[in-house]
Amino acid sequence: MPGYVPGAQPQGKTVKLNTNENPYPPSPEVIRALRAALDGGGECARRYPDPLCRELRQAIAEFDGVSPDQIVVGNGSDEILRLLMTVTLDPGSEVGTLWPTYSYFEFLAAQCDARPVRHGVDTGGRWPDSLFEGGERLLLICNPNPPVGTLQPHEMISRLCEARPESLVVIDEAYIGFAPRGASAVSLLGSHANLMVVRTLSKSHQLAGLRAGYAIGTGEALAALLKIKDSYNVNALTQAAATAAIGDTGHFESTRAKVIAERECLAAEMRRRGFEVPESHGNFLFAIHVRAQEIFEALAERRVFVRWWDKPGMRDGFRITVGLPEQSDALLRALDEVTAQLGR
Ligand SMILES: Cc1ncc(COP(=O)(O)O)c(C=O)c1O
Repeated sequence: MPGYVPGAQPQGKTVKLNTNENPYPPSPEVIRALRAALDGGGECARRYPDPLCRELRQAIAEFDGVSPDQIVVGNGSDEILRLLMTVTLDPGSEVGTLWPTYSYFEFLAAQCDARPVRHGVDTGGRWPDSLFEGGERLLLICNPNPPVGTLQPHEMISRLCEARPESLVVIDEAYIGFAPRGASAVSLLGSHANLMVVRTLSKSHQLAGLRAGYAIGTGEALAALLKIKDSYNVNALTQAAATAAIGDTGHFESTRAKVIAERECLAAEMRRRGFEVPESHGNFLFAIHVRAQEIFEALAERRVFVRWWDKPGMRDGFRITVGLPEQSDALLRALDEVTAQLGR
């Protein structure tokens, strides 16, 4: 759509289901922590933040069952991903990704003059043989993998790490908070020295606007990240808010359950309307339809924003962020209008 910026905040009465934000507010503990940080005569603004994010790393360590020494925190997981590319890639070197996947990977690769290598997955998400056989120094693999939301089991991740001992295998778990319990690759870190897990607090912890993400790993790659990151890459307010968010596991659990329940309801409604909707383990759905682009554009005209990409393997569907039940209702109403108008 000309002039349409996916990350921009649409004004007016809109249904914004295009950037996989969490529809629920952050934990009340986050608001309390922010207020407390702001009290005290602005000290949190005057002084530099903790460069090592010690309190936050301690909270993450407890949440993920790892040691704080295994964690590096970034200004969103996009910063971590960019740093990982910077430390592992030279101009001209290759970075392997699934395809389709998080489109920002290729943007980051271009910033490093690296060459992305796409390993194609179908809507079932099965990893292709080429992924196990390639020679790229860095593999960036989302699990669950957008835009469809497919999830691969531990055995597959272990097989990949073993098949590619010369590669750093980074599992981007941005959406793991909406996947079945126990799906995270963090429990495999002790078995594979070439494995790293990247997480964000933007999705399942409702902090997209404050920017906090982290890497969990061991060995050289983690040390390299620490060495290259800016000292004060995570500001004081974000550190306080993220520590509180991670600590409120009750809020995480209750909002997670609501998003998952809404995802399943919306998927059923979409399927009832003739869309093919593969099973998703994220906070989004991929709705496949022969007229996907037209539907996406007609929805946008009604200020219902979902996401469509004019890219191979992606243009035959659009991605819908799972929102509040009333947002799903508004989307479905608009869809019914649009499909009736288009004659399906
Ligand atoms: C797969 C994936 N990884 C990373 C990110 C970036 O998250 P952050 O907000 O922490 O930079 C996103 C954001 O949409 C994502 O979809």
